[in-house]
Amino acid sequence: MDLYIDTASLNEIKEAAALGVLDGVTTNPSLIAKEQGTTYAKRLAEICEIVKGPVSAEVISTDFAGMMKEAEQHLKIASNIVIKLPTTIDGLKGCKALSDKGVKVNMTLCFQPLQALMVAKAGAFLVSPFIGRLDDIAEDGMELIQKIRQIYDNYGYQTKVLAASIRHPMHMVNCALAGADVATVPMSVIKQTLSHPLTDNGLKKFLEDYKKAFPS
Ligand code: E4P
Repeated sequence: MDLYIDTASLNEIKEAAALGVLDGVTTNPSLIAKEQGTTYAKRLAEICEIVKGPVSAEVISTDFAGMMKEAEQHLKIASNIVIKLPTTIDGLKGCKALSDKGVKVNMTLCFQPLQALMVAKAGAFLVSPFIGRLDDIAEDGMELIQKIRQIYDNYGYQTKVLAASIRHPMHMVNCALAGADVATVPMSVIKQTLSHPLTDNGLKKFLEDYKKAFPS
C-alpha cells in the first residue's frame, strides 16, 4: 500500500519524507487555509521540491470551465502535480476531459460506490473515499473501501483506491487488509504506525541488560 501524507505543512512533509517511505502528498483547501503567509501555488511548488511522487492539488472552482482553468495553472507548477476535482457532475466531466489529455486526476469527496464507478469510467488516476467522515455519521467507511475494491476488481478498472479521511491506525490496518492502493494519512497517525509499548519496553530492557553486563 502506498503512503501519502495528508497535509500542506512543509515541516510535516519534510518529517515524513525523511522516513524514506513516503510516496506522495494530498492537500485540500482546508489544509492550505491553515498555512500562514503563503499561496496555494507557492506551497504546491515547495511541496513538489520535496516529494517527487504524486502531489494532489485541489481546485476551488465548482464549474467545469473554472476547473479546467485552475487545472491548467496547477499543472504548470511541476510534473508530479495530480489535479484533484470534486466528485460532482462537473467534476466528472473535468475528470474525463483531463484524463483524455493524459493528466492524472484525483477524484475527491467520494462517499458511495457508484461515484467511484463513474470516476473510474472517466479515467481517474485516483479516487478518494473519505472513510473517517462516513464513520462520523455512523456509516461504515471501511465498507465503502471494500465495495470499491470489489467493483474495480470485477471490471479491471485501473483507478487507484486512495483511502482518505483516515483518523487512526486501525483505519490504516483495515485499508491494507481491504486492498486499498494508497492511504493518505495525517502525520500524527504516520507516527503511530511505529509505536508499540512492547517495543519501547523491550528496547529499554535490552539496553539495561547490556549496560549491567558491560559497565563502561
Ligand atoms: C483527502 O485527500 C483529504 O484531504 C482528507 O483525507 C480529508 O480528511 P478529513 O476528513 O480528516 O478532513
